[in-house]
Amino acid sequence: MLVSPSLLAADFLHLDSEVEKLNRGADWIHLDVMDGSFVPNISFGFSVIDAVAKVAAKPMDAHLMVVHPEHWFERLAADGVEFVSFHLEAAGRRTASHIMAIHDLGMKAGVAINPDIPVRSLFPYIGKADFFLIMSVFAGFGGQKFIYESLDRISELKGEVVARGADALIEVDGGVGTGNAAALREAGADVLVAGSSVFNSPDAVAAMQSLRAA
Ligand code: DX5
Ligand code: ZN
Repeated sequence: MLVSPSLLAADFLHLDSEVEKLNRGADWIHLDVMDGSFVPNISFGFSVIDAVAKVAAKPMDAHLMVVHPEHWFERLAADGVEFVSFHLEAAGRRTASHIMAIHDLGMKAGVAINPDIPVRSLFPYIGKADFFLIMSVFAGFGGQKFIYESLDRISELKGEVVARGADALIEVDGGVGTGNAAALREAGADVLVAGSSVFNSPDAVAAMQSLRAA
């Protein structure tokens, strides 16, 4: 599995050394962007992303928890971001055109859903999106408890992706740690997002390695 640690759980007073840990141990670098409207929290914006982009040695994976994700695609591309996910709940009928806009900018497109959105809502985008992001907590805050029903949701999506012969990756985000990583792999997850379990560990690089090997 791939590991995409969430920078949201990093020590923002020491971002350079935190990104350096990710350069050593991560597959992707997960950047949680929140606008205070789509979710009841604000995280960080381009002042942080521009700075991280200068030192990131791994692909950046931006997770847009914002009402208007399409406003930011160009700036993310200019920063060299490789993976961009936005929420189906925000995009609605514009989901397919958002995927195309992301592709036109040379980036990979992901469609994300919160735990209360039926997984079958993603099925129309199989064959279009490069990846899907299944939230295993409600988007908005790090450090929440993993919702176990997410395992069934991942299996359901994986089954459909495989049945259609597509190769979309399934990313899971929220409450992920060594206690559930193996179960997530068995359910069909390809990319694990982990914030607190990586950054609260005394050895972040070892924590990333054990998630990858789960
Ligand atoms: C939540 C974010 C997550 C979060 C994960 O809205 O999308 O990426 O940072 O944090 P943990 O791993 O602590 O649940
Ligand atoms: Zn996220």
